[in-house]
Amino acid sequence: MFTTVIEPFRIKSVEPIRMTTEEERARLIELAGYNVFKLCSQDVLIDLLTDSGTGAMSSEQWAAVMRGDESYAGSPSFYRFEKAVSELMGFSHVIPTHQGRAAERILFGLLCHPGDVVPNNSHFDTTRANIEANGAEALDLPCREAEDLASHAPFKGNMDVERLEETFERVGADRIPLVMITVTNNSGGGQPVSLANLGAVSAVCRRHGRPLYLDACRFAENAYFIKLREPGQQDRSVREIVRSMFDLADGCTMSAKKDGIANIGGFLATRDPDLARQEKEILILTEGFPTYGGLAGRDLEAIAVGLNEAVEEDYLKYRISSTAYLGDRISRQGVPILQPPGGHAIYIDVCRFAPHIAPADLPGISLCVELYKLAGIRATEIGTSMFGRRDPDSGAELTADRELVRLAIPRRVYTQSHIDYVVEALVELYRNRDRLRPFRFVTQAPFLRHFTATYEPR
Ligand code: F0G
Repeated sequence: MFTTVIEPFRIKSVEPIRMTTEEERARLIELAGYNVFKLCSQDVLIDLLTDSGTGAMSSEQWAAVMRGDESYAGSPSFYRFEKAVSELMGFSHVIPTHQGRAAERILFGLLCHPGDVVPNNSHFDTTRANIEANGAEALDLPCREAEDLASHAPFKGNMDVERLEETFERVGADRIPLVMITVTNNSGGGQPVSLANLGAVSAVCRRHGRPLYLDACRFAENAYFIKLREPGQQDRSVREIVRSMFDLADGCTMSAKKDGIANIGGFLATRDPDLARQEKEILILTEGFPTYGGLAGRDLEAIAVGLNEAVEEDYLKYRISSTAYLGDRISRQGVPILQPPGGHAIYIDVCRFAPHIAPADLPGISLCVELYKLAGIRATEIGTSMFGRRDPDSGAELTADRELVRLAIPRRVYTQSHIDYVVEALVELYRNRDRLRPFRFVTQAPFLRHFTATYEPR
């Protein structure tokens, strides 16, 4: 009957937002080398830099934090965490890590060798960097529907199964230590992967005797999209769908900072006891004993509760519809976005927003800078700064396949009026898009350069 989807929570503790003026922000962003990662977060009004570790914990999670048992070995907090993961996902070996990329480093360090190829629907920056750090190639095989940013296909996060099959033929299974699927596909616009696609990819992996891993950060959002969009799934619970997704995989890496709704943490999971033993050996070397893996007992408790809250359907309905609320409102007023709205974020199609700036001139960086100056909103570029690279021979900037700016929505943090403000600001910036100017790098690191680079207007 009602069309307004209310936040299914009320607010018990608040964190003030410090107001700033446009003049102050112009000075602050210049001092930050025009890199929003270098801003002090107190100078940001609405922080849409990431949905990672930025969620608001529930009263149940804070209660669980107090239950945290900080024993070095055998803490009951670990067993509660392990139970939550294995009940939800069905894995027999669960290895806690301080966050997702630590799980990636351990997994790829064991499985990847120079010359290997790891296919994924789309690698995120840390998975790509961890694969490349082991001398292997991180290969993106997004489905064809993903090419058209404006199309409304329901599962644009899917992998191209034909190209996966071709890759096995071209490279040979011996050089493909594993296949990964990222749910939802973050670099590809927070778009979901269907169960049918997961099943088809899993069948190819099985035929070639290779494991399939999920990069599972946003597994609950993906499962909810399956419930909404995939034929035959409407009457199943999100928990059942989650289980069907993981039943098709041999293991996963997970950043609990997303759909674990925790501020820190992650894990690596597998069904293979021998691999788990080797993973734990490395874990002890760099992260910690296998019953804490670099986390405090209270963190493990927060994750155990958060994972179960992330699959609650009232929460997911609010989560997915509040992201769509932002996307639909700005696109109705002309702002070009990657369609349809993703689960955790809206992605602005920068080439259509600012066609007057060539990709090599970092239009996404310019958009982030102007959005911050205009409204104090922090967003992140997913384009040439993140995924391009400097040619070591010619010094030329090699551009990324697409230029996006991501507005990631922290879980349970902002209300509808915060989002209405973001809508107003983006529409205003789009009207004045001529003020976006070309940028260039001043300094850059050899890998994951977008975190620390500095820029200047050309
Ligand atoms: N995989 C995906 C798909 C991610 O989005 C991230 C993190 C990671 C792995 C790594 O996890 O940060 O816990 O080490 N993404 C964040 C983001 C940083 O902003 O999208 P982590």
